[in-house]
Amino acid sequence: MKYDAQDCLLVSKNRLTPTIYDFYLQNQTLASITRPGQFVQVLVPGKTLRRPISVCQVEGDLIRLVFEVRGEGTEILSRIKTGEIINIIAPLGRGFSLEPDKKTVFVGGGIGVPPMLYSAMQFGPNAIVINGFRNKDAVILSEDFERAGCRLIVTTDDGSFGIHGFVTQPLAEVIDDAEMICACGPTPMLRNIAKMAEEKGVPCQVSLEQRMACGVGACLGCAVAIKDGNGRIIYKHVCKDGPVFNSEEVAW
Ligand SMILES: Cc1cc2nc3c(=O)[nH]c(=O)nc-3n(C[C@H](O)[C@H](O)[C@H](O)COP(=O)(O)OP(=O)(O)OC[C@H]3O[C@@H](n4cnc5c(N)ncnc54)[C@H](O)[C@@H]3O)c2cc1C
Ligand code: FES
Repeated sequence: MKYDAQDCLLVSKNRLTPTIYDFYLQNQTLASITRPGQFVQVLVPGKTLRRPISVCQVEGDLIRLVFEVRGEGTEILSRIKTGEIINIIAPLGRGFSLEPDKKTVFVGGGIGVPPMLYSAMQFGPNAIVINGFRNKDAVILSEDFERAGCRLIVTTDDGSFGIHGFVTQPLAEVIDDAEMICACGPTPMLRNIAKMAEEKGVPCQVSLEQRMACGVGACLGCAVAIKDGNGRIIYKHVCKDGPVFNSEEVAW
């Protein structure tokens, strides 16, 4: 498969917290083919390796990316100004398999929350969304989920906003009615959710984050251990075979 790099106009830029940025990129062609759970590889000026960022939302010809400044690359990205061009390769990876007639619970943790928005929006009031953050100051995108009509539950680790505790607490209260769980966030959170889903027999899809280089399946940089049908461990590419996997496939 050939991957095209395309220029996008940065039409809007906001800061959601001191370290989290919200970008809207304009590109009709890419927006029209991007699905929930997919990601883009963003060219960072002055850097050879692109940075993978999940698609937070698609609105008309706009692709929304919400990212946290973690290192040099995302810091450079955060300084790009509205009206400038950002080059991306998109859409990449296999996103969530969504069935809007199934009762689905979307669980996001921290910077794993943005990719859940575009997915949950497809379900509107039929989506139960559980978003967990460190504290009140880290809470993002609540209005967006509410505007989409989703039933939103927020947890914080320190109890400064919403339910005091981890996302698994409210999940335990709704899991018996769930027909599908979709989750993105830190690995310990995903591992616990996968365990709960397995115990209850609820299908669960998890979006994994792995350090990436090429982002298109060419460098083996993003290998993840997966169980094949015979219980053997094989390695797959998070960038090409994922980032979304069925949770029971993952060798946690
Ligand atoms: C599929 C996928 C989707 C992602 N979606 C988002 C998102 O929506 N919002 C967000 O804030 N972050 C997201 N990330 C994490 C984001 O890619 C990293 O935070 C970012 O690459 C860090 O780059 P840096 O130059 O600032 O940091 P550095 O640590 O300086 O990066 C050095 C190198 O390591 C790579 N790298 C470092 N951390 C990660 C990481 N966690 N994942 C992948 N590569 C990494 C960088 O791409 C770069 O090549 C996603 C990662 C993946 C794999
Ligand atoms: S990042 Fe190169 S194979 Fe996945």
